Amino acid sequence: NGTGTAVTGAGTAHDGRTAAGEQAQTLTTRQGHPVTDNQNSRTVGNRGPVTLENYQLLEKISHFDRERIPERVVHARGAGAHGVFTAYGTVGGESIEKYTRAKLFNTKGKETPVFVRFSSVIHGGHSPETLRDPRGFAVKFYTEDGNWDLVGNNLKVFFIRDALKFPDMVHSLKPDPVTNRQDGGRIFDFMSNTPESVHMLTFLFSPWGIPANYRQMEGSGVNTYKWVNKEGEAQLIKYHWVPKQGVKNLTQPEADAIQATNFNHATQDLYDAIEAGNFPEWEFQVQMMPDGEHPELDFDPLDDTKIWPEDQFPMLPVGKMVLNRNPENYFAEVEQVAFGTGVLVDGLDFSDDKMLQGRTFSYSDTQRYRVGTNYLQLPINAPKKHVATNQRDGQMTFHVDTAPNQNPHVNYEPSSLNGLTESSKAGKDHEPMYNAPLIRQKISRHGEVDFAQAGARWRKHDEREKTDLINNLTDALSAATTEIQNRMVELFTKCDSDYGQRLRQSLDKAAKNPSPATSRYMGRRVTNGQNGQATTG
Ligand code: HEM
Repeated sequence: NGTGTAVTGAGTAHDGRTAAGEQAQTLTTRQGHPVTDNQNSRTVGNRGPVTLENYQLLEKISHFDRERIPERVVHARGAGAHGVFTAYGTVGGESIEKYTRAKLFNTKGKETPVFVRFSSVIHGGHSPETLRDPRGFAVKFYTEDGNWDLVGNNLKVFFIRDALKFPDMVHSLKPDPVTNRQDGGRIFDFMSNTPESVHMLTFLFSPWGIPANYRQMEGSGVNTYKWVNKEGEAQLIKYHWVPKQGVKNLTQPEADAIQATNFNHATQDLYDAIEAGNFPEWEFQVQMMPDGEHPELDFDPLDDTKIWPEDQFPMLPVGKMVLNRNPENYFAEVEQVAFGTGVLVDGLDFSDDKMLQGRTFSYSDTQRYRVGTNYLQLPINAPKKHVATNQRDGQMTFHVDTAPNQNPHVNYEPSSLNGLTESSKAGKDHEPMYNAPLIRQKISRHGEVDFAQAGARWRKHDEREKTDLINNLTDALSAATTEIQNRMVELFTKCDSDYGQRLRQSLDKAAKNPSPATSRYMGRRVTNGQNGQATTG
C-alpha cells in the first residue's frame, strides 16, 4: 500500500548502489559480495571435501544457526498488525483534559499510529491457536510524546494479585517439568491453594477461554492505572477494548473441530481480513474513579482479580482503533516487538497496584535478554519522534541517539558545552503521599469478596457457557487428586451453590465412567511425587 513499514525503514541503509554488471536484485552476501553460485559449495573436485575458506557457505550456515532468538517466556504464540488510533477528545461528555493531559487523547480526530500483538500465553511459538488460555492484547501507541504500551489481555481479570506469585502460577500452567505435558492436576494444585483465582477460572474454563479469533475478542488493561491532569490530580483508570466485530467464543468441541484441520486459524483470520480490506476495529473505553482507597467498595480497586461493576463505573468511550496493515516481515516486527507496562507518556501514570509494579520490572528485563540491550533501536520498537539520550553502546548499537546539533563529545548531563537539556514540565507532578509500615501482607479486602464476583459471573453465563464450563473443569480436574477436586468444589460452592453442586455431580459421574476425554491434554494424575518420582494414577 506504499505506506512503508518498519522493515522497509530498517533497510534504508541499502541505497540501491550496484556495481557494473549487477542488478538491484542480484543476490549478495551480507558483506555485499555478489553471489555467482548459490547452489554449489566450493569443493576439491565435485565430490568434496569442502574447504574452510568457503566464506559464503560458512556465513550462510552460521547466520541460519542464529535465526532464532529466545521465545517470550509467556505469550510466545502471536500475531500482529499495524493500525491507527483516533481520539474522540472527550470522556463521558466532558473535555478529556479535565482528567488527563496525555496529548494523544486531547483533540477530536487526532490520529496516533499503533502496532498491536495478540497472543496466547502458555505454549510455544507454533502451538495451536485453539488452546484454552487468556489471549494477550498488547498495543503500542507511537504518540507525539513518545511510546505508550498498553499490555492487556482479552479477559478483564487475572488469576493472582501479587507479582511474587507470577512465576509459580505460570509454572503450574506450563507443561510438567518431567512429562513435558500441561496437566490439570498441577494447575488445580496451585489454583485450589489460590482462592482469588476463582473469578478468572470461571471465565477461562468457559468458552471465554477460547476466543474464536483475535478480531472478535475484547481487550482489557486488567491492572489499574492513573490519569493525571495539568493540576497533578489523579483518577484511577481501567482500560478496555470493545470489538466492533462483536465477541465470539468457542466451546471445547467447537475448538477441537477447528484444531483438527488448522492450528493457525487466528493468525490466518487476522491476516486475511486485513489483506481483504476488512479492517478490524475496536472502541477504546475507560472506567474511572477518583484516586483513593474507596473503603465504600467491598473490593479493592487495585485488585486485578476483580472487575469494576459497570453500573457503578460506566464504560466511557475515548477513541477507536482500526488495524489496517499487515506486517511485512513476521520476525522483524511481530517477534521483535517489545511491550512493557512501564512505557507510559505524560498524563498517564501507575497506580499502587502491586501486580502492575512487579510486571513493570519484568518486561524490559526480559526484553534486554530476549531481544538485546538495544532493542529500543529496532524500528518496530523505536518511537516515531526524536530520541536523544546519553545512553551509549552495548551489543548491536545501530545508531547513536543524539540531537542533530548536539556536541558529540558530550554524552552526559548537565553540561555547558551544548549537550542535551531537560524538558519543561507539561503540568504539576502527581505526588501521592505514603505513610504505612513496610510489610508483607495480603490486601485487606480478601476472603469472602473473592467469591462474590465469580458467583455473579457464573449466574451471568448462559446455559451453553455453564455446560461447557462444567465439562471443561471436570476434564481438567479429573487429572487432580480427590483432595484437590474437593477443594475446588468447595471454592466454587462458595461462589454459588449451584456452581459447586453441578461440578460435584459431574466429577462423580466422570469418576464412575471415565471417558477418553478425561485423559485429554490436561489429563494426567500427579500425586505427591515422593522419592523424586512423578506418580500417575
Ligand atoms: C508478556 C511477565 C502479568 C499481559 C509477558 C512477558 C513477560 C511477562 C516476562 C514476555 C515479554 C517479552 O518477552 O517481550 C509478566 C509478569 C506478570 C504479568 C511478571 C505479573 C506480575 C500480566 C497480566 C497481563 C499480561 C496481568 C494482562 C493484562 C501480557 C501480554 C504479553 C505479556 C499481552 C505479550 C506481549 C507481546 O505480545 O509481546 N509478560 N506478566 N501479563 N504479558 Fe505479562
